Amino acid sequence: MTEPKIKAIRGTRDLLPPETALWNHLESVVREVFRAYNFQEIRTPIFEETQLFVRSVGEETDVVSKEMYTWEDRSQNTGQWMLELADRIREAHGGSLEEARDYISSPKLLKEADKWKGQSLTLRPEATAGIVRAYIEHKLGDRGLNKLYCIGPMFRRERPQKGRYRQFYQIDAEIIGPPSSGSESPARDAEIIELLATLLDRLGIKNWTLQLNSIGCANDRAAYNEALRKALDPVKDRMCSDCQRRAVTNPLRVFDCKVPEDQPIIETLPRISQYLDEPCRQHFAEVKEILKAVGVDFTENDRLVRGLDYYMRTTFEFTHGALGAQNAILGGGRYDGLSESLGGPPAPGIGFAIGEDRLVLALQESAEVIQPKPDVYIAPLGPGMDREAARLARELRRENLIVELGDEKFRLKKSLETASKLQARYALIVGENEVKSGEFALKNLATGQQVSVARTDLVSRIKPE
Ligand code: HAM
Repeated sequence: MTEPKIKAIRGTRDLLPPETALWNHLESVVREVFRAYNFQEIRTPIFEETQLFVRSVGEETDVVSKEMYTWEDRSQNTGQWMLELADRIREAHGGSLEEARDYISSPKLLKEADKWKGQSLTLRPEATAGIVRAYIEHKLGDRGLNKLYCIGPMFRRERPQKGRYRQFYQIDAEIIGPPSSGSESPARDAEIIELLATLLDRLGIKNWTLQLNSIGCANDRAAYNEALRKALDPVKDRMCSDCQRRAVTNPLRVFDCKVPEDQPIIETLPRISQYLDEPCRQHFAEVKEILKAVGVDFTENDRLVRGLDYYMRTTFEFTHGALGAQNAILGGGRYDGLSESLGGPPAPGIGFAIGEDRLVLALQESAEVIQPKPDVYIAPLGPGMDREAARLARELRRENLIVELGDEKFRLKKSLETASKLQARYALIVGENEVKSGEFALKNLATGQQVSVARTDLVSRIKPE
């Protein structure tokens, strides 16, 4: 066999049947569960302005500093650029040359002009930032509390391995709204976590563990960061270069370090649980109380700070034993303050994202999914019979039967073999005699039994009980 010249890019993959049936099954269960909790779907663009992710996910995170697919969008041509510039000048200054000169050399204009020349764009590495941008842009807060979900591809330039891809899929959900809508309430944290437990149970996924933490608010963070800096100062020189930098710029991110030699040092650092203020402590206590009341088990883990900067208060991850090194099946948390940092109104929120690829892997471990098979394979026999077969197929498909169509050039043996290979329940033979008489030979492929059935009775004979 000759080597195919063009292959899928490293870290991306084709999802092929029959595995796609598993993805569809999973997504239909997910949509059902979201419906029961009154979530509605949102679809945001796959690429956004780079600044959106820098400002929300955070400059020092691995996602932003190492993993984003970023490019400069093609510049507009010079003619268009100059026309735009002329328009802006007219708009701003009505034609006074002197003012125009000042305007042209103003730093604000130069910055803007840079933007028209070529914008920095990024393939979304996660969904929350885009959803919060959409929330601000479309004033979704006017609707009160928003419960939104989104399913789609995300992109991170990580080292590919089992359960880790460069294009992967997330099932993301967010509860976000103005404080008056109750978006800050610990009841929302518990609701979203309980939803996840229900979803995993309904999918038949067993052996998951829920890890829970609170990483406090801006108040606590200042004191905690101070304590971290103090603890890191005498030891940071023995740590990797990322940690050395983060110890100064954003000490919480030291916990994202994967370098084995740094782990003993990280183990000795102060713990966030000792720095929570009273409101945060109470908020966390209420989340835990509700979870206990509804019977969702969890393990507290005060090292779970999550790798994205926008989190505050509740953070959580569900892990699954069968996944090996990439065992986080999903992660989430609260992000009050994110909307304001993107120039929006106060809009507390909490959400999660499931790694759909990993959920499929876990599902393959613990659940069985039935791949739908054709109800009937139509075998046209001889010249002119493709036409008749097509008419019959149209009639049967209108009745929601799964129908596979053969070809009049096939011999009967080949048609029956194909039908068996597809695991069709019946083969329907369409020859000249059958068409004339209106009686068709219908063969049950499991038993081998063949009966003659009138055209009007075909649907009722073939329809599964
Ligand atoms: P995250 O923890 O970065 O959170 O990602 C969520 C999940 O996406 C992970 O637990 C994992 O299952 C999956 N995932 C991440 N990277 C990859 C990859 N390279 N290959 C396969 N799966 C991957 C977020 O993205 C947040 N936006 C979640 C959130 C929503 N927080 C609040 N709202």
